[in-house]
Amino acid sequence: MPLQLQHYLKYAAHRLALAGVDSPALCARLLASHVLGLDRLGCLLNPARKLTSPQAAALAALTARRLSGEPMAYIFGRREFFGREFSVNPHTLIPRPETELLVEKALAAFPGSRPVFFADIGTGCGCIGITLALERPRWKGMLLDNSTTALTVAKDNARALLHTSNVQCALADMRAAPLAANACDLLVSNPPYIREDDNAFVMDEVLRFEPHTALFSPDNGLARLYDVCRLAARCLRAGGLLLLEHGAEQGAAVRNALKELRVFQEIATSCDLAGHERCTGGQKGGV
Ligand SMILES: C[S@@+](CC[C@H](N)C(=O)[O-])C[C@H]1O[C@@H](n2cnc3c(N)ncnc32)[C@H](O)[C@@H]1O
Repeated sequence: MPLQLQHYLKYAAHRLALAGVDSPALCARLLASHVLGLDRLGCLLNPARKLTSPQAAALAALTARRLSGEPMAYIFGRREFFGREFSVNPHTLIPRPETELLVEKALAAFPGSRPVFFADIGTGCGCIGITLALERPRWKGMLLDNSTTALTVAKDNARALLHTSNVQCALADMRAAPLAANACDLLVSNPPYIREDDNAFVMDEVLRFEPHTALFSPDNGLARLYDVCRLAARCLRAGGLLLLEHGAEQGAAVRNALKELRVFQEIATSCDLAGHERCTGGQKGGV
């Protein structure tokens, strides 16, 4: 007898709950919506819908992936950021909601329609830089990452979401970024910033599935943050702005690093919605 949607939802939610997966009922509904091509309401309104054998098999396979801890974003191959869907895969960090703070700060700092040249350092799937280019069609930017596989995803997202050539993607290490001195109006970055010995505090599914090169950084998690500060000191024009995401405990270290470079002013840290210090900015002096 064919499996009905309601029976799959009940069974999957039960198994996901037993495995300790967050929001198991919602998770089962999202998997069913994905396979059946229904929206969430459609799932709720059609409890007696009979699943075909291929649909039941596809649902069993996806449920097994979620039961193994694989994040939904990798199962679906996409994640929403700033209201748009970005492709992701296990070579890219899954965009986090708190990173939207950095985007909001950048947009607020340059509210007008004048052209801005920006660089997104450690772009991953491209969510920060592509969002800036979409929100401000006159801006042009460089998206840099030292991971070939992540950069392929950023290029695919740029092609799919942007209908202009306003951003260029380039393979580069941030310590040797191909950016001319004094060339950028804005430099944004969400670099790896977790301490390498903090494994025990990182969620198991993050540790097992997300790329470690996107997460961890030497020197108590600060090495890549310091690299971006040095890069910004060199490649921002006078009056240009650096915006840097960091861990909740790293605000003071980043502010100090910017002060020690002696070229930044207006150094300030903003908190995310959870009240944690999350994003530090500084303006290059000498205007
Ligand atoms: C925390 S992820 C951020 C990804 C994306 N910007 C976001 O906010 O979701 C950090 C990114 O920096 C890249 N990365 C790490 N070390 C780098 C380096 N030395 N030079 C350039 N990119 C680097 C990683 O490959 C990864 O894509």
